[in-house]
Amino acid sequence: MSTLRKILVDKDNSCKSVWFMRQAGRYLPEFVEIRSENQNFIDLCLNSELSSKITLQPIKRFNLDSAIIFSDILMVPYALGQDVKFVKDQGPELSGFNIEKFFDNNEKEFSQKLNPVYKAIEITRKSLDRDKSLIAFIGAPWTLLVYMLNIKKNKTEMDFNKLNKKDIDINKILNKLIKFLCVHVNNQISAGADVIQIFDSWAGMIPHNNIKDYCFIPNTKIVNFCKREKIPNICFPKGIKEKYEDFNEMVKPNGINIDYDIDPLWAKNKLRGTTIQGGLDPKKLLKTEEEMLEGATKYIKAFKDIPYVFNLGHGLLPETDPDRVKKLIEFYRNY
Ligand code: CP3
Repeated sequence: MSTLRKILVDKDNSCKSVWFMRQAGRYLPEFVEIRSENQNFIDLCLNSELSSKITLQPIKRFNLDSAIIFSDILMVPYALGQDVKFVKDQGPELSGFNIEKFFDNNEKEFSQKLNPVYKAIEITRKSLDRDKSLIAFIGAPWTLLVYMLNIKKNKTEMDFNKLNKKDIDINKILNKLIKFLCVHVNNQISAGADVIQIFDSWAGMIPHNNIKDYCFIPNTKIVNFCKREKIPNICFPKGIKEKYEDFNEMVKPNGINIDYDIDPLWAKNKLRGTTIQGGLDPKKLLKTEEEMLEGATKYIKAFKDIPYVFNLGHGLLPETDPDRVKKLIEFYRNY
């Protein structure tokens, strides 16, 4: 069994395990090289051989304990019929949401469209050591909805008028999304992935009164599906501050990734019965080496006697020096 599963499932706190969100990405020159020859990001995600190669790049370089399949949370809206484009320096752009078309989707066609992702998982699993996890992932329903309905104004604001004005039943859309997300989870596990991470990157923007309906309940439904299927799961409800405690009590995931706003000692005290993962601000890797290691020490010390997976409070930034990543891994392993 992989160290990640031992920590998540058996709560074995004698185990060490380290991986990073966006460990395969633009900070790696070997990724940039492949990316420069593949301008269309969705097509790159649908190229099983290249996706597998990219997934393994950080494993080769740093011997990390887990690989995370190179894909994107927006592959699901793509498979549900929306065009997805990545505009340079602007982020993702989706074509207009068509409600009839959305409810007309069927599971067979959906799975077929994502088949290259499953193929990439199969190929990757074959060349990955047995003691390493292959992590697959999905976007949480709310976070996908933000992109699908295009309701984000900028980095910190949402256009809720857009959400309320549309004569659409948000809960009905979320429930339909949950069904397809569970299919995608299942297909990825069948292909050879052994852990699922659920990214709710925009959970922090949900108004207080809606947090249960838009975040806690959808995540619970997916985690319950994972539990029924015995799939180890990690949730990442980014930006919800002290609501992490309610989230953990209601959703009860195997693991929970904390963001860089969460104090590690607070988390240790409040987030019981789960394995904590991550926390370190990816910006610390851009500071002096001393500052980076001091930052890391805070998390390592806080979680030294409970199950903990070393990771970050968000993805590695494109401007990160790969040598810094190497230093950080060595420091954690030798601590
Ligand atoms: O973590 C990994 O290494 C696995 C691969 C992975 C990607 N995206 C590849 C990617 C994962 C787990 C994701 C998840 C994802 N995608 C999230 C949730 C995590 C988070 O960041 O909050 C979100 C919100 C997305 C949507 C998305 N995809 C955005 C906003 C962007 C553009 C911004 C950016 O960083 O470029 C992407 C593109 C993307 N997905 C890249 C990568 C490596 C960069 C693509 C490029 O080379 O231009």
